[in-house]
Amino acid sequence: MPREIRLNAFDMACVGHIQQGMWTHPRDTSAEYMRMDHWLDLARLLERGLFDGLFLADVLGIYDVLDGSADAAIRSAAQVPLLDPAMVVPAMAAVTRELGFGITANLSYEAPYLFARRMSTLDHLTGGRIGWNVVTGYLDSAARAMGLDRQMQHDDRYDLAEEYMEIVYRLWEESWGEGAVLRDRAGGRYADPAAVRRIRHEGPQYRLDAHHLCEPSPQRTPVLYQAGASARGQVFAARHAECVFLNGGPAADVARTIAELRALAAPRELRVFVGATLVLGRTEAEAGKKLAEYRRHSSVEGALAHASASLGIDFGRFGMDEPIEAGPGNAIQSNVAAMKRATGPAFTKRGLIDQFILGSRQKPMVGSVADVADRLIEYAEATGADGFNLSRTVFPEGLEEVVDGLVPALQDRGAYKRAYAPGTYREKLFGAGPRLAAPHPAAGFRA
Ligand SMILES: Cc1cc2nc3c(=O)[nH]c(=O)nc-3n(C[C@H](O)[C@H](O)[C@H](O)COP(=O)(O)O)c2cc1C
Repeated sequence: MPREIRLNAFDMACVGHIQQGMWTHPRDTSAEYMRMDHWLDLARLLERGLFDGLFLADVLGIYDVLDGSADAAIRSAAQVPLLDPAMVVPAMAAVTRELGFGITANLSYEAPYLFARRMSTLDHLTGGRIGWNVVTGYLDSAARAMGLDRQMQHDDRYDLAEEYMEIVYRLWEESWGEGAVLRDRAGGRYADPAAVRRIRHEGPQYRLDAHHLCEPSPQRTPVLYQAGASARGQVFAARHAECVFLNGGPAADVARTIAELRALAAPRELRVFVGATLVLGRTEAEAGKKLAEYRRHSSVEGALAHASASLGIDFGRFGMDEPIEAGPGNAIQSNVAAMKRATGPAFTKRGLIDQFILGSRQKPMVGSVADVADRLIEYAEATGADGFNLSRTVFPEGLEEVVDGLVPALQDRGAYKRAYAPGTYREKLFGAGPRLAAPHPAAGFRA
């Protein structure tokens, strides 16, 4: 039997997510992202395709690194305008029963006390289908929006996150004991004060003295995702993440990263999802034609605005063929490393733009449904990945083709489930209990 493949849709509550410019295609409906039906239809589609989850990216701040201006991002709708991803989840949960929701939330600018309540609320309202992609941000524009001069240094952001995680674990896992909720109508006791603990924390970044506001939700701690694979990022992932999201790339590189992450996290299991963009057709020729058609709508300006911000390099300062010597930088270091692997250590703006096939650095996998199914299976087997985070191309047709074409092809090959496993998001992903177990640090806080 081939390795089982899991699918997430990789999306964002905005017009231009990864593949910039696709919204200008006449059949694309991304610009309807403010309408409730847009999200309800998406959730129903994904559940029909037995997707494990909808993974929603989020970024605080605007992409203003290119030419020191936000104009390109605003003009091309590169991740702005952007809604709050947490707010779109409950409505989607109401029209689905099994689909998981992994939302990205930046911990740098929100007090742990407030954030812990928001996630507990979502875990309750989704019946235990919520996940959190833990991020600390990579934009100075976000720091300025929050009254600071600039963001913290790369590795310091991970230290901040370590302290934050301890506090939210204590709120989710420790504050309300297992037997705390009595719902004793006859005795008039809703909960037992002796079993509800006040959490006190004093650390370098945070102070807190509080009871968690929510009673225990199905999963308590949401399923924890992490994206970011710098050396420091890997240490963080190994300690906290249950699922890791990696950029795609050559199988050998991704296999190495996955093996390193799994070795660091052992004996804990890690599910790894790799980013992918698919362009499918009934035949290879049809897929090639579709790629050419989509490509006419890709936005180089939007892709440059996005790349400049996430790599932390203002490409506006360089001529087309001027070598760009990039250090690790203070944005996403693993993206800089991937860039250098793809184009050579001293890459050029022209080299970068050449990689923007559909409006991003993520190269599409193009082919017939049957061929792409085989290639995904081969890639998963060569890398050890558990599945793919599929970014959108022309929406919704690109996803509909996955649900109606690729999923059945993967099923025919024995590489895709035919029904959801029962239980919460965590149970579906790992087949164990709804709550984090030892040796995960969160479990240590549960009395
Ligand atoms: C595939 C991928 C997706 C990411 N998605 C987000 C996101 O939605 N929001 C965000 O603020 N950061 C996102 N990041 C950035 C990282 O979470 C964060 O900046 C990172 O931990 C720093 O990366 P590094 O450890 O590789 O340097 C993403 C990173 C990668 C590699």
